Amino acid sequence: MPLQAEPAARAIAKPGESVEIAPGVHWIGALDPTLRTFDIILRTANGTTYNSYMVRGTDGVAIIDTVKAEFADDFFARIESVARYDEIRIIVLNHLEPDHTGALPELMRRAPQAKLYISTRATAMLKALLKPKEDKGPLAFETVGTGDEVSLGDRTLRFLHTPFLHWPDTQCTYLVEEGVLFSGDVFGCHYCDTRLLNDRCGDFRFAFDYYYAHIMRPFKTHVMDALKLIEPLPLKTIAPTHGPILRDRPRRYITRYRELSTASFADKIGNEERSLIIFYMSAYGSTARMAEAICAGAEEQPGLRVSLYDLEGGETQPFVDLIESADALALGSPTINGDAVKPIWDLLSSLAVIDLKGKLGAAFGSYGWTGEAVRMIEDRMRGLKMRVPVAGLRVKLIPTDEELDECRAFGRDIASAIASGEKGRVIDFAELG
Ligand code: FEO
Repeated sequence: MPLQAEPAARAIAKPGESVEIAPGVHWIGALDPTLRTFDIILRTANGTTYNSYMVRGTDGVAIIDTVKAEFADDFFARIESVARYDEIRIIVLNHLEPDHTGALPELMRRAPQAKLYISTRATAMLKALLKPKEDKGPLAFETVGTGDEVSLGDRTLRFLHTPFLHWPDTQCTYLVEEGVLFSGDVFGCHYCDTRLLNDRCGDFRFAFDYYYAHIMRPFKTHVMDALKLIEPLPLKTIAPTHGPILRDRPRRYITRYRELSTASFADKIGNEERSLIIFYMSAYGSTARMAEAICAGAEEQPGLRVSLYDLEGGETQPFVDLIESADALALGSPTINGDAVKPIWDLLSSLAVIDLKGKLGAAFGSYGWTGEAVRMIEDRMRGLKMRVPVAGLRVKLIPTDEELDECRAFGRDIASAIASGEKGRVIDFAELG
């Protein structure tokens, strides 16, 4: 039996009914209270919502986003409670991820006269999603960017280009006359409550921060760009695609985003200092000796703060903030059974929530037989869009004095690459195709 977040008597979202959140603006989304894991990795303590909205003007109706396919019946029932399909002129897709476009094909079938409005970067995704057949004629869609508007008569939808929040295609849509920002995933959270409105539902602050940390944090610079567009807007309501509708003091959530997007540590340790962090694991002390020698070599570089950490028995999570604000990361691992050791992989996987693009990486380690760990770590760093300008360093078994000299030189080379600050071209795979 699914848990209900709220006794029905106080529920605002009821089956088959839309909810008016501003004059002529209705929530027509769906509740998913039993979901416990979203996108495989996100925990959802009491489920989530797929919010979509309807705006009525004197010249027709617009639908802003749809819902996950399994919840299409709820969505259509709510539309039918407040509009006819032949009134729908406009379908805005702020984000094409399936949790917001699952009901789109059926909506297009029911409202074939409606025109789609998507961001300039969403075209390829839309075609991949709908796979239009040539004999059916071209898809009726228009791409829009910041400042573009579409009119519903007495209502105006204005678009804001806000990419990478959370995919390259994302945008926000602003209803000028009512000060409502349909924000997509931004300012959302996985929190399901039939009371629906932020001043009525339970305390969801943990879910708001958790969502930011896992969905938005890797795109902090894009968040800051989006905030520059959003902050000047007269704003009465933020209507995101997940979680509570933020009608009570919506600017608090914008302020929180700015706080969360500002590095928790200063960008640099000192005004001019740069930072290299060396992590290692060592089975018999050889990789540890390499790490110390690399540290000594790197420390010769003026203005570089070098930190050395043994990952044995330690957690990786406390280091994530530190790594985010560092210039470079060097990882040392022995090769055991043809692989790097688990804490190194744990550390690397914990970095998925931060932006590593262009950050400098290096790998080293002692080995007994084949020594695959160093190359594997380098490959993973490149996969995370880090630069690896200094070839990895491997030492067979116990390092000799000459090999420790090589380690110091390796440290100096990493330090020089940091100091030179050269920016290699980093391919952003999201931009391809
Ligand atoms: Fe809620 Fe990125 O989809």
